[in-house]
Formats: sequence, C-alpha cells, structure tokens
Amino acid sequence: FRVPVIDNEPMRNYAPGSAERAGLQAAVDKMLSQAPFEVPCIIDGKTIKTGDVQTQIMPHDHARVLAKYHAATPELVQQAIDGALKAKTAWEELPWADRAAIFLKAADLIAGKYRYELMAATMLGQGKNAWQAEIDAAAELCDFFRFSVKYVEELYAQQPPRNSAGVWNRTEFRPLEGFVLAVTPFNFTAIGGNLVGAPVIVGNVCVWKPSPMATYSNFLVHKILLEAGMPPSVIQFVPGDAPKVVQQCIDSPKFASLHFTGSTHVFRDLWKKIASNLDIYKGYPRIVGETGGKNFHLYHPSADIQSGVVQAIRAAFEYSGQKCSALARVYVPRSLWEGGFQQTLVEQVNKITIGPCTSWDHFTGPVIAKHSFDKITGIIEKAKKDGGEVIAGGKWDDSKGFFVQPTVIVTKDPKSVSMTQEIFGPVMTVYVYEDADFESTCELIDTTTEYGLTGSIFATDRLALQRAAHLLRNAAGNFYINDKCTGAVVGQQPFGGARASGTNDKSGSINIFYRFISARSVKENF
Ligand code: SER
Repeated sequence: FRVPVIDNEPMRNYAPGSAERAGLQAAVDKMLSQAPFEVPCIIDGKTIKTGDVQTQIMPHDHARVLAKYHAATPELVQQAIDGALKAKTAWEELPWADRAAIFLKAADLIAGKYRYELMAATMLGQGKNAWQAEIDAAAELCDFFRFSVKYVEELYAQQPPRNSAGVWNRTEFRPLEGFVLAVTPFNFTAIGGNLVGAPVIVGNVCVWKPSPMATYSNFLVHKILLEAGMPPSVIQFVPGDAPKVVQQCIDSPKFASLHFTGSTHVFRDLWKKIASNLDIYKGYPRIVGETGGKNFHLYHPSADIQSGVVQAIRAAFEYSGQKCSALARVYVPRSLWEGGFQQTLVEQVNKITIGPCTSWDHFTGPVIAKHSFDKITGIIEKAKKDGGEVIAGGKWDDSKGFFVQPTVIVTKDPKSVSMTQEIFGPVMTVYVYEDADFESTCELIDTTTEYGLTGSIFATDRLALQRAAHLLRNAAGNFYINDKCTGAVVGQQPFGGARASGTNDKSGSINIFYRFISARSVKENF
C-alpha cells in the first residue's frame, strides 16, 4: 500500500463574522463554563484517579482552574511501564498499514471533530491566542502525525541496493528493546503529540509524562489517539510529579529511550542520571532532546527596515516569547538603527496590545506561570541595573493573569545578562554595532552563548548573506534568510538545534525516526 499524498493542514483565519470564529468561540465558552475538568491517569486505557490532585490554572486569570489532574503514584508508574511492555510485541508486529491508519485517522479527528476543543484547551491552559493555537494544536499537530506516516513509509522502503546469486538481503527497521519515556513541554500541544508519536509510529511503546501546565490539552490528544484506534497500553498517560515519575522511569532496567523537550539544565541532568545507570540497562539508551535557545536576528546595513522590524516583533513577542525558537537578541548596525529602525520598532511595539487569550483583540497574552513571570521581570530589573535601557514595554501586572508587556532593552554590553541568559518571555535585547564590524559581529553572535537553536540574517546584499551563512554555520540549527527565526513548518523546515540546544535530530523530518529504531540486517541464502 502507498500512503496518500501528504500536505500541510490548511490554516483557518478566524476573520470577524466567520463561521470559524463562531465555532471556536463556542468551544472556548463551553470549556469556560464546564471547567475545571478532572484528568485521571490513563493506564492500559483505564481511567485511574489516585486522589493526589494537582491543578492546572488559566494563566490569563490565575484564580481559575482549567483542570484538576491526578498525579501518578509509584505503583501506577510501574503499572504503566509493565502494561506498555506487555503490549509491545503485538504493537510492533501489527502491519505498518494499521499503525499508519491510526495516525492518519487521529490527524483527521484533530483537523475536524476536535479542532476547536483542542485549540480551546491550548488557549485557556497554555495562554495562546486563537491564531497561535491554530498554528500549534490544529495545524502543526496534524502535520506531525501525517508527515510521520509519509517519512516512516520512506524509511521502511530503504533496502540494501544489492542482492547476489542465491542471496536475499533485507533490512528490518525494528523498534527499540524496552520502552520510550516522553517528557513533554507546556509551550506546544503539537510537540507533546510528536514526542509520543515519533517513537510510537515505528513500533515503540511509550510512557507519556505531560507538562503540568499543558495537562488538559495533552490529555485530549491522548484521548484522540485512543479514539483513532491506538491500542490502549501503547501510550500510557502519566501526569504527576516530574522529577519522581521521570526518575522512576529511568531507573527501570527496561528504559530504552528519552524523548524530551524542555530546559537545558534538566536535560543535562537527566543525561547524567541515565549515564550513571548504564549498567542496569540492556542497551545504550537513545537520548533525544530539544532544549534551550538564545535566538538571534542579525541585520546588515543593506537590510529593509520595515519588514525587518515586523519580523523581529513577531519572532520576539508572538506567544509572549515562549516558543523555543523565539527571538531574544537583535544585532543592528548603527546606520540602520539611527536611520529609522529604532523609531519604527518603538512605535510598533508601543501599539501592541496584550490581554486575555479569550479575547480576539490582542496581539499576545500572558506568560505561563508565576515562576516564569518572576524570572522574566527579575531579568528585566537586572538588565536595567547593569546599564540596559528599556525603550519600550518594561511594565507588568500579575494581579489577575501573568502579564508582561513586550519589552525592548538596548544594551551596550553584548555579553550582558539579557543578551546571554535564556528568558523565555517577551523580552528582546538590542545591541547596536558599528557598520564596519559586520564580520566581527557574526563572530560575536557565534561565541556569545552556549546555544545553537535558531537565528536569522536580514540583508539585500547577497555577498553579506553568504558571508553570514558561513560565519554562523554552527550558530543555529534553523537558520533563516530574510525571515523571522520562529515558525518552522513540518515537512518544510525540519526543526532542532545543536550545542546546548539539543541533539539536533530534526523533528518534522525523516531524521528523527532513525533515533527510535534498531535495525536488523538479514541475509538469506536460498
Ligand atoms: N517549531 C516552532 C517554531 O519554529 C518552535 O518549537 O517556532
């Protein structure tokens, strides 16, 4: 069988008065009227309430609770691991067409029946506005599931190019021996789905530890996968105390792989713990992670100011700077800065409105939680003390929701705290360089931080573009030319970075699937 032609899920635009807007609004209103929802652990397809109840609040209105979830006990985590392993043989031996059908069906359910409900959960629980929820919980999640089918089909088709007389050669792309642990982030519902989907589609079984701040949307994704025909024990949904659940999983001799998106320090810590456990495992665990970033835009004196400013604002402030790819550091030549860049930037940023994600009128919404709010505002204060000048924004209010105004800091020190430390909030720091220093600024960008996730060069001078692409060749796993450093699309721009930003295994491409298979080469004499 051949999978159908796969394309990106078309984006809806939610224009005023449209049926789409009315449909989504109704889903949001219904969810608001029914919250809080009770989220159990789902082990072997069974709903289990442990009574250890934790809450997921709405970041735009933190007095409101979206979900009350039951944290897994150690016994349940063990049950999840055992149940998944029991289901493993039947799952990996299921014909590929059946596995593919589940993912194609799940994508269709997300695109249609569950689109608005999943978007509403992402808006209310993760603080996205409608358009950001559309990009994530509708389009990108469908794309991940559908393109996974396409890529895995291509992978399975790869066979040794030569047989000889009386000899058949073949490669069997088998899953890993053991289970995969997926530790998933708050900022993209789609990433949660993909961290689970990528290993599972090639025949692995998985324990899913969702982020406490995305539990409800992730629970819905799990439910949709079950409805699409996923055998109940293949993906075990285990919310709970992250350090404890994760530790218990990596302390299991059956642990085979970690699929992770989150912070650099947590990933490094887990890597070391896994390494120290090496003797208890049967094999070498596959450790796959996407972690932090300190992403950049570099402008050349030949760059176009108007579009350059728009791209910077979108990259830094959409979803309040909480994409892993979000823009954090901006390098502008003096001629451009004084020739209109600064003025346009300040004018445009001052026009941005922030407010509840339930409203259609705001460019962006809250940050996710109190700890993020405190970290972001603390770094802005520190940047000011260190001599940084706030030229736009710089105000915040957490009386109702966790709101931080999009903030632009100008610094004379390219190694200052807001230029180097990951903030994960709506803060961009600008460093103005002398026009003659374009090349040394590339070197500065390359060496200033430990990260290597995303970055952009803006120029109309093609020699400058080429030079920057060369000098910054290791500085960003996703490198953009005259475009913003956010918004990678599955099947178009495979996503991921190296250095302290992760293992660069490129989600949204065929590469990622190689990490979750352990192939067997078979030679037969006949
Ligand atoms: N893929 C997203 C982007 O490129 C980030 O995870 O913005």
